Amino acid sequence: MSNLTHQEIAMNTNAIYAQRRAQLAQKIGAGGIAIIPTAAEQQRNRDSDFPYRHDSYFYYLTGFTEPKAWLVVTGDGRSTLFCQPKDTEREIWDGYRLGPTAAPAQLGLEAAYSETELDAQLPGLIDGRDAVWFPFATHKGLETRIDGWLGALRARVRFGALCPKTQHDLCGLLDEMRLVKDAHEQATMLRAGQISGAAHIRAMQLSANMLRAGQEVREYHLEAELLHEFRRNGAQSPAYGSIVAAGANACVLHYRADRGLVQSGELVLIDAACELDGYASDITRTFPANGVFTGPQRTLYELVLASQEAAIAATKAGARFTDPHDAAVKVLAQGMLDVGLLDKNKVGSLDDVIEKRAYFQFYMHRTGHWIGMDVHDCGDYTEPSEIGQVSTRQDALTGGTIKDRPARILRAGMALTIEPGIYVRPADGVPEHFHHIGIRIEDDAIVTDNGCALLTRSVPVGVSEIEALMRS
Ligand code: GLY
Ligand code: MN
Ligand code: MN
Repeated sequence: MSNLTHQEIAMNTNAIYAQRRAQLAQKIGAGGIAIIPTAAEQQRNRDSDFPYRHDSYFYYLTGFTEPKAWLVVTGDGRSTLFCQPKDTEREIWDGYRLGPTAAPAQLGLEAAYSETELDAQLPGLIDGRDAVWFPFATHKGLETRIDGWLGALRARVRFGALCPKTQHDLCGLLDEMRLVKDAHEQATMLRAGQISGAAHIRAMQLSANMLRAGQEVREYHLEAELLHEFRRNGAQSPAYGSIVAAGANACVLHYRADRGLVQSGELVLIDAACELDGYASDITRTFPANGVFTGPQRTLYELVLASQEAAIAATKAGARFTDPHDAAVKVLAQGMLDVGLLDKNKVGSLDDVIEKRAYFQFYMHRTGHWIGMDVHDCGDYTEPSEIGQVSTRQDALTGGTIKDRPARILRAGMALTIEPGIYVRPADGVPEHFHHIGIRIEDDAIVTDNGCALLTRSVPVGVSEIEALMRS
């Protein structure tokens, strides 16, 4: 793990982005040109836009967060930015623009122009390159725009212009770079995790305190606490829509914070975390609204926690991406048999439960995903060196054919979530004291040579630690 201070991070950032662009230039080869636009602004209604969020690939290579910007990297290592021109009137209405005159020095790029010059400049920049690289199927209209520049170039072949012969998807190449997090990224993700952890602590304490004071508690009270803590620590926004699910709402996997009553004796599941300086965190904690677990809640909570510990132990360099999931499933499936969620007379042994996916009734999602600039971050989940090894099998539940490829081998610096859960909907044979309990525990991990480093454990996870925190 990195120990960079925030100030050191700020001083180093231009060099970091320059190094990534140099790596990109080398990968596309001397005859290549890469074209990367940032995200478009999105209208919410009439004069209101959704809060602007830059494109992650673009940001990864520039650290620049203004809209209407493009990066062009050529194989000779030159980087050109196209950005909004200075415009006093627009800046009065919409805010400061860096502008192309200041951009090269400020961002450490070779050249910058107004984005209004894209159509005039791009054919010339492409002229003589043999391959064009851009992210496929990510930006509406990008292919058309690039076609236009290629067409303009082709119209000049009689005057000596040279058109590229190939187009390549830039996503795969940048995904591989983004998959392994450098020290700067790890430091930012750790800070994001700490802010999100503090927010969870506040929400837990508020719930118990309000209930002790006899006040009505609603999901939005807890959500407000989370957002307050994110923002007061400088996080720009939540990394995804906050889930604050009281009682039975926790069994809805994509529930959003709403106005549900948070009641004494029930659990609350919070899956919420901030985005800081372009990097996501992703934390879930499940806690008793009043600060004390009931017997059945504790039984299932400790089972999920044990499954998470098994998954954490399976997360290390050299393991497969699926190993943590398989380890979690094994513990959960055995636990479901032990506590009577599954009846061994009906579903058979542990091996049968796993083979037939009988656990799916209570655990229906995967145990993790890559995390980074995007909460569900980019990167192949199959091992590139073994991509040709395809096998097929019949799915035990649906009977459908599933194509398997060997799962990704974890390497130091990869970042993933570890998030097992149990969700109990009433059904025949399901013990009533477990009905409507939904539990997930989620932490963010960076793979290390010997194991993994958890970024989000500043917020307690053990039963007694949570109860102690909520008493205080
Ligand atoms: N919060 C989204 C997820 O856990 O994947
Ligand atoms: Mn997650
Ligand atoms: Mn989550």
